[in-house]
Order: sequence, then structure tokens, then C-alpha cells
Amino acid sequence: MTIGARVATVILAAGQGTRMKSTLAKVLHPVGGQPMIMRTVETAHQLDSTLPVVVIGHEADAVRVVVGDRAQYVTQAPLLGTGHAVMQAADLLRGQSDQVVVCYADMPLLTPQTLRKLIDVQRANMGPFTLLTLIANDPRGFGRIVRQGGAVTAIVEERECTPEQLAIRELNVGVYVFRADWLWEHLPKITPKSKGEYYLTDLVEIATAEAQIVQGIAVEDTDEVIGVNTRVHLSDAEAALRRRITRRWMLDGVTISDPASTYIDERATIGQDTVILPNTHIQGASVIGAQCQIGPNTVVYESKIGDRCVVYSSVVEQATLEDEVDIGPFAHLRSGAYLESHVHMGNFGEVKNSRLGAGTRMGHFSYIGDAEVGADVNIGAGTVTVNFDGKRKHKTLIGAHAFVGSGSMLIAPLTISANAHTAAGSVVTHDVPENHIAVGVPARMRPWTPKPDDSVDSS
Ligand code: UD1
Ligand code: CA
Repeated sequence: MTIGARVATVILAAGQGTRMKSTLAKVLHPVGGQPMIMRTVETAHQLDSTLPVVVIGHEADAVRVVVGDRAQYVTQAPLLGTGHAVMQAADLLRGQSDQVVVCYADMPLLTPQTLRKLIDVQRANMGPFTLLTLIANDPRGFGRIVRQGGAVTAIVEERECTPEQLAIRELNVGVYVFRADWLWEHLPKITPKSKGEYYLTDLVEIATAEAQIVQGIAVEDTDEVIGVNTRVHLSDAEAALRRRITRRWMLDGVTISDPASTYIDERATIGQDTVILPNTHIQGASVIGAQCQIGPNTVVYESKIGDRCVVYSSVVEQATLEDEVDIGPFAHLRSGAYLESHVHMGNFGEVKNSRLGAGTRMGHFSYIGDAEVGADVNIGAGTVTVNFDGKRKHKTLIGAHAFVGSGSMLIAPLTISANAHTAAGSVVTHDVPENHIAVGVPARMRPWTPKPDDSVDSS
């Protein structure tokens, strides 16, 4: 795109959103884990747009704090309608672009592709603007599109429709692409209605009166123009977004056995032939490898999971799993958990801020926090790293091939050397040297040599 072909975007977000019945500004309610206005702002960023302009009014400060420097702002007060809202951006944008896109902050599923299409249609058009329409049986209170010989000649608000116009099934969704110079010249020509409201839609009749042709393009995917006014719409938008995301991954080679109960953040990625079982949430920018089985009943938050892992009924938060790790049911990985390849973690285990070496096994109800565990360590049932002394956290180091007996309390700071052993029920307060076993409460050290055939199955 050439520099002269630049687009400016105006996002209307000044309205009150009363029907949400919320103390949170409507456009800050999340859809797909992000405040809905951010979705619109980021869509604008994908248009070769100048920094999008957000028209703020109600909850202006809260909106500003969330959107930050991803947009510039103009304030509308009082709120005198959509035409008045766009007018607020005139001084900022006049002369800054060839085209101006106008859309709402409460239409979170609108895609850059649809806007680009509208921009391209408008660019090829001699007329002053092109708008997006929706053909639907449920008119949902939208303005009706009146056409003559193909051109849009008027938009009539529902409350002002004749019975004939009420029957029109082509609706105004509120997304427009204008020729910039025409918009800034003609906006001031809108006259207020009886309540003092300036209708942006009046520009259609203003253009028609000048014998200019306004084009209307019907949206293909009607989900894109779900507008959020109530929390029912919010869940509609959420469900539609979910369908969009799960469909994309299924077409990309991921099996999703129940898309309706699968929640995948847009920023997440999933490898081929991975199977996602019901009631699974993949949140944030999580990365899941190929040929994994995730779920059922699993939450993965901002985590990285390698290939061929099994995560069964577990919660994985800000953790990393290398390849062929299997965890669960009821495993809990917390921030900074790093499980090297072939780690096995069974039920009721918790790992936080710790690394478990390759092939380490931790089968049953253990807590490992602030620890470095080597390869092929056996962590017996009920082992606890006692990492907190009431004031500070301390580290536990466990060397490769160590054998930690069931019910060991490892009082940190502590080092258990490679090939060392702690006996079942020991309370280990001092470092355990290589080839020693810690026994008792508090534990005493005894020499110990693992027999070569000691590698029994710990499960
Ligand atoms: C508008 C259109 C209507 C269309 C409908 C689609 C006009 C006159 N009518 O209806 O044809 O079918 O959208 O949803 O434009 N806003 C402001 N400042 C204002 C008024 C509104 O920023 O003074 C913002 C709101 O925050 C909202 C958007 O504009 O995001 C639409 O406002 P809303 O009142 O819902 O639209 P309508 O006027 O009912
Ligand atoms: Ca309204």
C-alpha cells in the first residue's frame, strides 16, 4: 500500500452501555480473554491505519488506562449521537489520511479482512463512502437500509421506520469507510434531530442529495457483526469467537472432541494430531506441541507443552513441559515449573518454581517448590520440600538418580546428592552426601549403595 493510500480509524466508545448493568465500562468487558475494545483497536492496527482514534466519554479514564498508547483519544461530551462522536476526531484527522474507517468498540468479532474488503471496495468506488450491512431475519433494532437501483439511499432508524421500511431485512451494522476529504467536509452538514442527536447515518441522504452513490456490502460471516449491548450478547460473542478458534485448529489438524466445551485463547498455538478432550481451557499465549493429549478437565495457562505429552485433568500455569511428559490426574504446575522430557507426575502433585530432570517420577501427592531435581529421581509418595521458614523461601537440590522415600520432609535449604537416599518418613534437616541414606526424625546419615537391580517400577 502506498503512503497516500493511508487509512485512519475512528472507534466509537463513548456510550454508556447501561444494559450491561455493570460498574465496569462495557467496552472493557473481556471477550476471549481481552477487553473487547482491544480487539477492535488491534484490528485497526492491522489496516495500515494511522494510530486509531478512540472516542471516549463514559468511563473515559478507565478505557484510556486499558488501551494505553495503542490508540489516541478524543473526548465526546455531551454524547450527542454517532455523527457528533465522529466529529470529535475531525481536528485530529483532517488531512491525515485518504480514507476513514468508522466502527464501534462493542463489535469485537469484526475482522481486518472484512474491513480491508470494505476499504478496497470504497477505493474502487467513485462515491463518498461504503458501509457494511447485515441481511438477517431478526432486525435487532438496527437501522434499515433503503436502496434504490443498487445504491443505498437512506438509513432509517427503527423507531422512525414506516411499516414498509420495518419489513426491510438489510440492516446497518455501523461500520463505514469514507473518503476522508468528503467526510470532514460533510460531517458539519448533519442537522440534529429533535433530541439534539446527530446521526452519522444522515450522511447517506446528504450524499444522495448530491447525486453521489453510497455503496452497501453485506457481511458474509454474520458472527462478525455481533454487537454487545447486554451480557447475553457478550456470551454470544464469546461463543462465536470460540467456534471460530476451534474450527481453525480443527482445520489445522487438531482433534477437538467437544468444541462447545473447549476454550482456546486466540494467542495459543497447538501442534498437529494433538487431541483436546472436553472441558479444557487453553489460556494466554500457550504453546502446545504435536500428538499431545490434553484434558479432559484441564486448564493450561501461559504454558509451553512439548510433543507427545499427556496432561490429564490437571492445571498447568506458567509452566514448561518438554516432550513426552505425562501428568495427572489432578496435577498442579505453578509458575516456573519446568519438567524435562519423560517426567511422570501422578495425582495430587504440585510443582512450583522448580525443575524436574528427565525421567524423574513423582507419582503421588507431593509438593516440590523452589527445587532443582536431577534426572531419574524417584520422589516417593507424600514428599514435601519444606521451602518456607515463615519468612523466606529456600532451595532444595536433589541430584540425579536420588531416591526420596515416601513421606520425606526435606527441610530447605538442603542438598540431596546424586545417588543418595532418604528413608520413608525421614525429616531431613542436613545435606545428604552421595551414597548415603538419611534416616529418622531428625534424619541421621548412613552409608548406602544402590543395588544395580534397584530400578523397580515405582508406580
Ligand atoms: C447506530 C446506527 C444504526 C445501526 C446501529 C448498529 C446511527 C444514528 N444509528 O444505532 O443505524 O443499526 O448503530 O448498532 O448511527 N456512541 C458514541 N457517542 C454517541 C453515541 C454513540 O460514542 O454519542 C457509540 C456507542 O458507544 C456505541 C456506538 O456508538 O459503541 C453505537 O451507538 P448506539 O447508541 O448503540 O447506536 P444507535 O444510535 O442505536
Ligand atoms: Ca442505541
